[in-house]
Amino acid sequence: MAPSLDEGNNSLFNFVVKDGYGVKGMVDLGLTKVPKPYIQPEQERIDKQNARTCPLQPIDLSKLNGPEHDRVAEEISRAASTLGFFQVVNHGVPIELLGKLKDTAHSFFGQVPEKKAVYRKGASPSPLVKYGTSFVPDKEEALEWKDYISMTYTNDVEALQQWPKECKEVSLEYVKTSVEMVRKLLEVLMENIGVKSDYAKIDALIGFKLVNMNYYPTCPDPNLTVGVGRHSDMGALTVLLQDGIGGLYVKVEEDIENVGKKGEWMEIPPVDGALVINVGDALQIISNGTYKSAEHRVRTTSTKSRVSIPVFTMPNPTEKIGPLPELVKRDGARFREKTDGGLDGKSRSEIGQHEKIDALIGMKMVNMNFYPICPDPELTVGVRRHSNLGALTVLLQDGIGGLYVKVEEDIEGVAKKGEWVEIPPIDGALVINVGDTLQSAEHRVRTTDTKSRVSVPVFTMPKLTEKVGPLPELVERDGAQYREVVFRDYMNNFFSNTHDGINSLDIHPYK
Ligand SMILES: [Fe+2]
Repeated sequence: MAPSLDEGNNSLFNFVVKDGYGVKGMVDLGLTKVPKPYIQPEQERIDKQNARTCPLQPIDLSKLNGPEHDRVAEEISRAASTLGFFQVVNHGVPIELLGKLKDTAHSFFGQVPEKKAVYRKGASPSPLVKYGTSFVPDKEEALEWKDYISMTYTNDVEALQQWPKECKEVSLEYVKTSVEMVRKLLEVLMENIGVKSDYAKIDALIGFKLVNMNYYPTCPDPNLTVGVGRHSDMGALTVLLQDGIGGLYVKVEEDIENVGKKGEWMEIPPVDGALVINVGDALQIISNGTYKSAEHRVRTTSTKSRVSIPVFTMPNPTEKIGPLPELVKRDGARFREKTDGGLDGKSRSEIGQHEKIDALIGMKMVNMNFYPICPDPELTVGVRRHSNLGALTVLLQDGIGGLYVKVEEDIEGVAKKGEWVEIPPIDGALVINVGDTLQSAEHRVRTTDTKSRVSVPVFTMPKLTEKVGPLPELVERDGAQYREVVFRDYMNNFFSNTHDGINSLDIHPYK
């Protein structure tokens, strides 16, 4: 049922967001004024009258292969380190493809809402495809005047299987040709800051790729709304195809001679056949602040619907990013290294002993276990055999006993391989045992029929986002006995198994 458009209400939100009609569905109902949820606060509105057009000419990338290489490389580097935005022509992405992409975006969004809504969040048949509206509609104070379809690139086969059939072929060709260009640009940008880059280094920067088709329907009053609110991109480089309508504004971060004044918002004008390139946060961090990830935003228009088609390249979600060591050595660190909660501030090889240990025990947990008396301890176990998942476990046990550990190898003067030995209660003592992160031994707990038993372990383990693998020093000396794994993945495996009779390091292919 069509919602009332007069006031900000749930029925409108449900219609646009939940039912997947999008802003386009709302506009198609025949809007004469902007519904309240879309009205931006004064300071976020875009003043078209007072914005200048960016005077920078597009850069001809084909000249990178000729005698003018150095001049063009310098031009790219200067743009990336000042405005953070530039346009390129002769970029290697076929011109016919650009036209097809814009047509495809219009025809995709021109479909009946049901066709698009198939891919909306929570309903999409593919984890790679998401159709939506605004950015985070549940949380935004004022919604963006935009619908989009987003397609993650993993490989060609999955793209052709899972992306919407209406747009998969052109989008795939666009991602692939764009990424090729991004590699060239990154090579130039790395060389400019004195960093030798190879295929693998650039791969780490752009391991994750995503192509969006954005649709900005006409708006009854563009002065009140935004197509996209101000933000910076999070990845390495973004490639953007915009149509002839314009409306992309970038904020000048510092005075740039012959270009703009600090704080000014400048329009990146549509240039036929050109692509817009902009620097994302990850590249700003990796370059130790040399390249600028600039704020930008998109205005709406009242005359014609606009489409734009960005390709985002960014590091894989598990990749650690921080200023490149070469640059830190030369200039000092201006940013901290980050995954989503890992080691702050330094690269893995630079961390000191204290931080190394911190990384091993970033997560701590204390349990209180209670083992009631059992009518027949022969038939039950207090804890099934298992190994612990963390670094070290500290265990306080009471005087009752019942903790058994399996001897993994013959230990002279102690026990034979395969034997189970009891760790006896000792008043005032704590039991320490090694967890899987440091390799580990199986153990279990017996029940008792005389008295209830308690035990109080403290588990220490790496943070969920921490990569766990043999330390590089040891791999160099002894070769790798285990492969690296993100602790969260390891933990998920750990708890999705019963551990019946197996050491969890053996269950999963960590070796
Ligand atoms: Fe952006």
